[in-house]
Formats: sequence, C-alpha cells, structure tokens
Amino acid sequence: MTTIENILLTGKNEGQTILSFLKKYNAEQRKIFVLCNPTTQKQCLPILEQLLQTKLSAQLIVLPIEESTKDINTCNQIWKTLLDFQADRKSVLLCLGGGVICDIGGFVAACFKRGIEHILFPTTLMAQIDAAIGGKTAINFCNEKNQIGLFAPATRTIILPEFLETLPRQELLSAFAEMLKHGLIADRNYWKQLINININNIEEITNKELILQSIKIKTTICAKDITEDNERKKLNFGHTIGHAIEAYLLQHNASRITHGHCVAIGMIAETFLSQQKRLLSSDKCNIIFQNLLSFFPIFDIRPNDYEKIVANLQFDKKRVGANYNFTLLSDIGVAEINQQVEREDIFKALVFCFETLKERKK
Ligand code: GLY
Repeated sequence: MTTIENILLTGKNEGQTILSFLKKYNAEQRKIFVLCNPTTQKQCLPILEQLLQTKLSAQLIVLPIEESTKDINTCNQIWKTLLDFQADRKSVLLCLGGGVICDIGGFVAACFKRGIEHILFPTTLMAQIDAAIGGKTAINFCNEKNQIGLFAPATRTIILPEFLETLPRQELLSAFAEMLKHGLIADRNYWKQLINININNIEEITNKELILQSIKIKTTICAKDITEDNERKKLNFGHTIGHAIEAYLLQHNASRITHGHCVAIGMIAETFLSQQKRLLSSDKCNIIFQNLLSFFPIFDIRPNDYEKIVANLQFDKKRVGANYNFTLLSDIGVAEINQQVEREDIFKALVFCFETLKERKK
C-alpha cells in the first residue's frame, strides 16, 4: 500500500536531525546519491551543508534538469550514472531542487531496480507546499506534461525554509496562489490569515507557520486518497481552467505569466461556476474575486481565443462524456468534487474573467 511521506519542517538548529539519519545510511553502508541541477548545486547545496555543518558524504549527479528536459533522456542519464557508481536496491536518492527535480527524481528512484528510497529536499515554495507532498512522480512525454509517472511517496520530505531566501518574488507569489487554494478548499481561517498578508513584504508569505498550514492541508487530503479517486480531487480546484489558460499561453509564447497566476484566474473562473450552479452565494463569491484580484490581476485574452482555451480542456483527464468534471466550492473552506459543468458555462466563466471583471476595474 502507498503511504504518505514523513515530512520534516526544519529550523536552523535541526541540521543534526537530518545528519543523524544520513549517518544511519552511511553506517548501514548504503550508497547515497544527490540529484541536483547546476543552480541548486550552487545555491542550495551550500545551505544544506552549512546546516549539517559538514560536507555531504554522497555521490553528486548534476544534470541540466528543467521543465524542458524532464524526460526519458534525462532519466536514462541518471539511471546510467547510478549503474556506473554501482547503486543497488539499498541505495538512496536525495533530490535537491524544485518541483521538476522532485518529480523526475521520484520517478527515477521508483523505477530503478524496482524501487529505491528517495528523499526530497524541495527548494522552492511551490515544491515545499505542493509538488514534494503526496507522492506524484512523473516525466513529460510527446510534448505533454506529466504523462508517464506513478504514485511513489518519498521516504521523507525535508523542508528547509532557508532555501526560499534565494527565490525571486514572482516565484513566491506563484506558490502563494496554491496556498490560497488550500485555504479555499479546506480551511476558512487559513484563507483569512492569507488574505491579510501584506504582499509588498514578501517574507510574510514564507512564514514557517503558513508553510506548515499548507503542508498539513495537503498531507491530510493525500493521506485519505493518495491515488486521486475522490478526496484528492479537491486539490484540482482552479486547475481545470487554470491549466487550460496556462497551456494556451505557452502555445502563444506568452509564458511570462506564472503557473500560480493562471491558477488564481482559474480559481476566479471556477468560483464563478460555483455561483452559476448555486453552490456558493454571490456575497462569498465577491469576497473571493476581490481578494484574488488584489494579488493576481486579470491579464488580456481576446474573446476570439476562448475557443482555443476550451480546446485545451478536450483531453482533460477529468472529462466525463460531453461534460467536464470540476471541483467547485460550496463555501469558503469547503470543496465539492465531481461537479459536472457544460462547455457553454466554461465560455461564460471566461467572459466573466476577461471581460466583466476587466470592465468593473475601469
Ligand atoms: N498538485 C495536486 C496534487 O498533488 O494532487
């Protein structure tokens, strides 16, 4: 049975806890490998080693891993290196990086010799509160994201808030959208805390207590349903339309809009759908619209392009017959899975976001 990973949110004084279990691997003569890319090798490995107060006794595997190389060729290179250094079934792979490294590292480890242990050290806020929790591992295939993969939770996920100090504001803000989602789907008080944040003081987003709240929400959901048969679908709120918008922007070379920004607009559109289906009152919808817009403004999409966005939903894994399967809201902090939405209503939601709300701002 797949179980949820053991998550450790560390502070500056907890390097010894990490060191002690790494030493245990050394004592058992198990080989440790560290997967990173040149950026995390340069920026994050020294932070980790400073915390441990020693150099890692491990074999480094440094490859130019990013979204465009999260593929089978990179897996081959990692597997080849593991073989070259005589990795065996007792070996352990530490993944030091953002969501991409956690995704591919988990996948490589889960397949190598039918599965070796992997430990995630997520270095971005997005990975700390989302990608490194819940055991989704995957690589891209035929230009489609995350098509090949499996559920394989890490033995441990170790969260070091120190890594976040090196991240650009845009990246933190992108993850903030996912934190807001956690509040909207599962915890009204957490949502209230988040909307009171002063976004100009970006350190407020990386507050350890907030990170912990998001981790708890995601862990609780995934522990009930790791394979996304029911409860885990709650995490899809904002993502059905958000992903379709993100894919459209990528197809039109406008990828400067972050994933989180697309998800935030997706959450506005899906809150609108919640109101259309009379699940959520207009007062509550307006609170959600107003707050999301204060962090994530509407960008321009031409009405002629709505068709292209909806076309991106065509192959959505959640589609049922002619309708689309959404997670919507029945309250702030309460999500409803398996809500059927018609194509026509998705167009209405796009008009609402990219025309009605835009007009309201004028
Ligand atoms: N990122 C959504 C999930 O892990 O299910």
